[in-house]
Amino acid sequence: MAEAVLLPEPRPMKKKCPQALVIMPDDQTSVAAPLAGADLPVFAIEVKGLDKRYRTNGGELHALAEVDLTIPRGSLFGLLGPNGAGKSTLINILAGLVNKSAGSAKIWGYDILERPRQARSAIGIVPQELNIDPFFTPRELLELQAGLYGVPPRERRSDEILSALGLADKAQSYARTLSGGMRRRLMVAKAMVHNPPVLVLDEPTAGVDVAFRQQLWDHVRDLNRLGTTVLLTTHYLEEAEALCDRIAIIDHGRVIACDTTKSLLKRLDSKSLTLVLGSDLDAVPEALKVFKGELADPRHLIFHYRPSKSPVSEILSAATTAGLQIVDIVTEETDLEDIFLQLTRRGQAKGRDER
Ligand SMILES: Nc1ncnc2c1ncn2[C@@H]1O[C@H](COP(=O)(O)OP(=O)(O)OP(=O)(O)O)[C@@H](O)[C@H]1O
Ligand SMILES: [Mg+2]
Repeated sequence: MAEAVLLPEPRPMKKKCPQALVIMPDDQTSVAAPLAGADLPVFAIEVKGLDKRYRTNGGELHALAEVDLTIPRGSLFGLLGPNGAGKSTLINILAGLVNKSAGSAKIWGYDILERPRQARSAIGIVPQELNIDPFFTPRELLELQAGLYGVPPRERRSDEILSALGLADKAQSYARTLSGGMRRRLMVAKAMVHNPPVLVLDEPTAGVDVAFRQQLWDHVRDLNRLGTTVLLTTHYLEEAEALCDRIAIIDHGRVIACDTTKSLLKRLDSKSLTLVLGSDLDAVPEALKVFKGELADPRHLIFHYRPSKSPVSEILSAATTAGLQIVDIVTEETDLEDIFLQLTRRGQAKGRDER
């Protein structure tokens, strides 16, 4: 029997069990329940008034301030924010690794305090901190994790998951011999073993190479297409913009924006237009001053404009009338980074005042 071969070998008692053992559900019958139910929840994750104050030496730190967040079932949701914004705190509360101070959180309709087993069965979490037992092999760790979640041997997909994450050739190596990036991949693999309807990835691509990042995002996209709700954090804003259909930006423990990626991008009504000139220009022509043109150098004239206020055709016809010889035109759209910086800079001073 193929499954029997995959099962972890008995371990000596002195061996430390993976940390997962502490938090996993013991109600194994509930594992497959979340996907099977006819009444699927509207929201995969629902957080209301979630508050977290950490005790620190000098007092307390307000890491989450009455956060409200709803993540629709089936979405690919990006939770973004600067370092220390509170993203991992929120995720660790969902994972049951950190206790909330106030508020409520539901995963797949299950309150994390009232129905902890069902809530945890519905979610697979890749925490930001690497916590892998170094004395198990990747295959053993996945089998162990599957056992903890009550996945019957015939339904286990350890080797399939390891291949999908580029770890097939390391399946039998001790985890301690894996590189940092490989350990991160193994963490992602562990979160997938029970095929949860909600997958949460806290900076899964930190420290992994470009090729794997691409591969992981492709995999995440595929899972999402097949129905898995994904919540991820990343500091690669370009990737979040390409990947996520909805985005929330959190700063100083508060949600400062939450919208579809499209609507968020529309918020900054700002674009730039660069005219590449065929001959040198000493100063911005009088007729173009109204559009606030700036000379980057004698051959590059830049305009920052609001598409809703001044259509690009107006700038171009004014430039032609002014006799400029235009050899090329470059336009730049607002991207998520612009929005992110604008929103979080605004929050910086406010947050400082409140802490
Ligand atoms: N166990 C803890 N005890 C005290 N303070 C903590 C603890 N964990 C986190 N914090 C503080 O809570 C705040 C939020 O931290 P958190 O790890 O949630 O941020 P983050 O948004 O995940 O940041 P990053 O992008 O760096 O991962 C920070 O000021 C952090 O120092
Ligand atoms: Mg974090």
